[in-house]
Amino acid sequence: MPQSRKLLVTSALPYANGPIHLGHLVEYIQTDIWVRYQRLRGHSCTYVCADDTHGTPIMLKAEQEGMTPEALIARVGEEHARDFADFGISFDYFGSTHCPENEQLSRDIYERSRAGGHIARRTVEQAFDPVKNLFLPDRFIKGTCPRCHSPDQYGDSCEVCGATYAPSDLENPVSALSGATPVTRSSEHYFFRLGDFTASLKTFTETGALQPEAANKLREWLDAGLTDWDISRDAPYFGFSIPDAPDKFFYVWLDAPIGYIATLWRLLNTQAPRPLSLEAIREAWGHYETHHFIGKDILYFHALFWPAMLEAAGLARPHAIHAHGFLTINGKKMSKSRGTFITARDYLAHLPAEYLRYYLAAKLSSHIEDIDLNFDDFRARVNADLVGKLINIASRSAQLLTRFADGRLGTELPDLALFQEFAAAGDDIGAHYEQREYSHAIKRIMDLADRANRYVDDKKPWEMGRDPRQHAALRGVCTQALNLFRVLMAYLQPVLPAASARVSAWLGGIDLSFESARTPLLGISIEPYQHLMRRVEEKDLAWATTAPEPPAPARTEVLAAQPAAALIDIADFGRVDLRVAAVIDARKVEGADKLLQLSLDLGEGRLRTVFAGIRRSYDPQTLIGRHVVCVANLAPRTMRFGVSEGMVLAAGDGEGIFLLGVDTGAKPGMPVH
Ligand code: MSP
Ligand code: ZN
Repeated sequence: MPQSRKLLVTSALPYANGPIHLGHLVEYIQTDIWVRYQRLRGHSCTYVCADDTHGTPIMLKAEQEGMTPEALIARVGEEHARDFADFGISFDYFGSTHCPENEQLSRDIYERSRAGGHIARRTVEQAFDPVKNLFLPDRFIKGTCPRCHSPDQYGDSCEVCGATYAPSDLENPVSALSGATPVTRSSEHYFFRLGDFTASLKTFTETGALQPEAANKLREWLDAGLTDWDISRDAPYFGFSIPDAPDKFFYVWLDAPIGYIATLWRLLNTQAPRPLSLEAIREAWGHYETHHFIGKDILYFHALFWPAMLEAAGLARPHAIHAHGFLTINGKKMSKSRGTFITARDYLAHLPAEYLRYYLAAKLSSHIEDIDLNFDDFRARVNADLVGKLINIASRSAQLLTRFADGRLGTELPDLALFQEFAAAGDDIGAHYEQREYSHAIKRIMDLADRANRYVDDKKPWEMGRDPRQHAALRGVCTQALNLFRVLMAYLQPVLPAASARVSAWLGGIDLSFESARTPLLGISIEPYQHLMRRVEEKDLAWATTAPEPPAPARTEVLAAQPAAALIDIADFGRVDLRVAAVIDARKVEGADKLLQLSLDLGEGRLRTVFAGIRRSYDPQTLIGRHVVCVANLAPRTMRFGVSEGMVLAAGDGEGIFLLGVDTGAKPGMPVH
């Protein structure tokens, strides 16, 4: 057993002026998978986060909504916490930077920096809104680009030609808040002398704390020379006031990362008999192996300012900073105007959280690369991997076991070597999680799922079901398959905690840790298979498609074009015996490009073979486990490929085929009236 580590993990603190969106979730899901993996391996892993609550935008937003900033951040904090919980993000504590602990720490760190001679003061000239009576951050000034003369550009850069400049360079600048022409005012500002830490920051880039591409970026910044960092803002400002400086506040980015320590402090206070002192938390911080997960846009703050501040205050540096790329949606930047700004809530209204966790995991690597969420790809991937491959292993073998072998697992595995191969893969998969190469871990797991399905396909347990003398062999095959499935669910637990919990409960509350997956599960009785995951249908994604909906084709003439058949009475209808059937297996038929061969359970103690002409519209893998409606008393028909013992109902008029489904809860064999 490797030594147990004492990890402290953070995700960046989301701003409290807007909802959590899918871009944010890349980070929280990436971090959470890592955290859950570490906990599964038996390490102590504390995961903290908080809302980032200070700054001008939050102050203005509160004003706009007619409330105090305190009320606004309290409301948003609750919304954020709920969003994170619903995506399975397993924080040990989710706090707020607007708390007394953070204020005390921020002042302490500032005062120690000042005592060390790292704080400078000088007067700067800045744009001031004479109507709103406040200094304007760059993004609140708009005007005409000095280079390409495009109107309505932000104070720091032009979206048309890409030029960057100072707000004072803009032509015809106006305040975005009041429309007034800003005036230049001078004011004294406080600076953190970042350059004092050049040498130690150079060393920091060599310690392995950063990804290679991040270390390169840092070297570039260091070579360009570090300038003083402006850490003060004038009133009015929502933040912490600077000691001995009337009407001056800490810039939000000073107290935000300190929020990591403050949140740890609050967490530890809940666990200790009495609150920890400032000295105690300073010391406790140093005892963790700290990992910060962040987006690439805030690397400068985390890799330069933050280690320098910590050093100035005599505090330990983080062990590692892990930066990720940005999420695009259907190839486009997330933006409200393009309709690609999707909030966590929007998503949850339509789709299960774990599908996003899985999809992102399948794409995440340890590199700072952007990730695209393409909804067609999302649907294909979730259906093929989770429903088609993974769940398929369990659903067909569990249903067969229940029907033909009284739901009891065998007392030994028919293919122990295969099981051991699965158990041994855990080390490799674990290493991929550890290195944040989740896409590799997922690839490895899905290859194993293919292997498990191949095993079942080779053994054909649905054929064994027909012959009572083969029921013992069927039990063996299903025991093997369910054991392979169980190992895979353990490996997927960091990504799919809720699905793993459902599987664990279904199998009688079994442990699904990496270690436990090495021992086969034998001899126990299992509950009948319960539906574990549903397919993503095209209609589930309609809300997320940015293209306008195509007009519904005029369908009213369909019945007119194909007039209804001659009248029958209820007795005629009663002669058709319709039953609910579970699809236990579905496969293509060699030499028949329209047919699928289905093995159907109609609750009669044996499986029926039905050939259905639905191959053009359905991928066989996706049918396994679903319920259909079958004509149970249709005379068997001998076809070239075998005997068909019924017919499944589907709608269609030549343009497509649509199987009839049955709502959840119906059991195989139930009559349909
Ligand atoms: N408040 C700061 C962080 C302070 S940390 C001491 C902040 N907040 S944020 O709400 O804008 O972003 C929070 C995290 O989400 C950041 O790491 C950011 O990079 C990440 N993301 C925001 N939009 C994103 C995408 N579209 N894609 C991926 N990550 C994104 O920055
Ligand atoms: Zn321009």
